[in-house]
Amino acid sequence: MSGPVARLAGLQVGPAQSEPSGDFGLIGLAVMGQNLILNAADHGFTVVAFNRTVSKVDRFLENEAKGKSIVGAHSIEEFCSKLKKPRRMMLLVMAGPAVDDFIEKLLPYCDKGDIIIDGGNSHYPDSNRRTRYLAEKGIRFVGTGVSGGEEGARYGPSLMPGGNEEAWPYIKDVFQSIAAKSDGEPCCDWVGDEGAGHYVKMVHNGIEYGDMQLICEAYDIMKRGLGMSYQEMGEEFDKWNKGVLDSFLIEITRDVLKFSDDDGKPLVEKILDSAGQKGTGKWTAINALDLGMPVTLIGEAVFARCLSSIKEERTRASKVLSGPKPSFTGDRATFLKNLEQGLYASKIISYAQGFMLMQTAAKQYGWKLNKPSIALMWRGGCIIRSVFLKDITAAYRAEPDLENLLFNDFFNKAIHEAQDGWRDVVSYAVKAGIPMPAFSTALAFFDGYRTKDLPANLLQAQRDYFGAHTFIIKPEYANDKYKSGEHIHVNWTGRGGNVSASTYNA
Ligand code: 6PG
Repeated sequence: MSGPVARLAGLQVGPAQSEPSGDFGLIGLAVMGQNLILNAADHGFTVVAFNRTVSKVDRFLENEAKGKSIVGAHSIEEFCSKLKKPRRMMLLVMAGPAVDDFIEKLLPYCDKGDIIIDGGNSHYPDSNRRTRYLAEKGIRFVGTGVSGGEEGARYGPSLMPGGNEEAWPYIKDVFQSIAAKSDGEPCCDWVGDEGAGHYVKMVHNGIEYGDMQLICEAYDIMKRGLGMSYQEMGEEFDKWNKGVLDSFLIEITRDVLKFSDDDGKPLVEKILDSAGQKGTGKWTAINALDLGMPVTLIGEAVFARCLSSIKEERTRASKVLSGPKPSFTGDRATFLKNLEQGLYASKIISYAQGFMLMQTAAKQYGWKLNKPSIALMWRGGCIIRSVFLKDITAAYRAEPDLENLLFNDFFNKAIHEAQDGWRDVVSYAVKAGIPMPAFSTALAFFDGYRTKDLPANLLQAQRDYFGAHTFIIKPEYANDKYKSGEHIHVNWTGRGGNVSASTYNA
């Protein structure tokens, strides 16, 4: 036996080669890949770089990588031969088939125990599949969330690795060195089995969609509802960035609002109001529906992007559908305080929903997701990094099995204090005809969640009336006729039969 097959069987063959020097290998030299390599080199690791278009490797070596502990490879074989064993190899290529292609290309040159890491925004079922597939071949797969954009990759991203846990002791040093630090703690920890890392990154992105939508709604009501100038809005966001909303997304919003084009006009005003999306928010919403979890804010954020993208149709509709004209008569400073509080309260709901989803997924998929460490991973480096996540980390550290963020004293008090202002903002938006779907759905969730008796009793009656779908009697009304916990069908009209439909929940 010789060549690649022998390598996979763990046999040493062929002529002796010089000792490989690479601690870590990275494939994919787009900006994120290049920056992660530079980051790892800054932390003392020798990094081997490869790219499908190999001319990019030389360009990188001659420019950004010059003088650093970075070596290039011009083929997959060379890439593998330059790495110490077990090889730690990271792919930063487009999520989807490209990841599978590279895995297949790497396999012939891998030895048992080697580690393949996918750092793209892959869908977690793909990472489940890849973990199992590679484990059968003795290769340890890691699917990791990487957040923080270009700058995060260069100076410290948030990293959310999951997959084959045997890999963790071998990658922990690289990952925790290059990750962002928050109060000295790395924003990176092992997330869980199989696709758990990519799952948590997916929920991170869903929450990112929600945070961005909330900010956009605040901007819209400031602009159209209060008639504020871009300078005034920028200053308000600057103020918010020093309070409970202190976060990366508020900070960049301030900068975007203050950014003027060459003609002195705010550039943002010129940007087409049609939002793009690469799918991670949609996956979160779909997963929430699959798991039966009311993750309403992310859902609204995804739909808001969809509505924005039918710009031409909206333009036609704007000519035939009219509504109220905003006319604000209250105290602007008070309204802005309420808006800040409303955004804060909506954020609390969004994160509470996100954690509800992850908690349910952990149960459903058999993952041991650790809530305090997820909050810690999101505290720094990533797009949703904020002071707020420090409070979430503290809440889950104090009580790792906390059922819901809203049961935590700190957040419970915060949402009660914000409540009146939040309602004022949503009421004004409704009267002024300015859509605030994320603020509104958060408030509706809050009101639903805190309601012991919802009108679903009527809904169950309707289902039983037209389809014999059955209902369960409230315990306090149980008797010989209506037994507690039993699925009951009533012949509501006297015309239908007494036979009920089978009972199951999707
Ligand atoms: C991050 C970002 C990153 C990317 C989003 C953009 O955490 O660094 O989430 O992954 O910016 O995927 O997503 P959309 O194109 O769907 O807005």
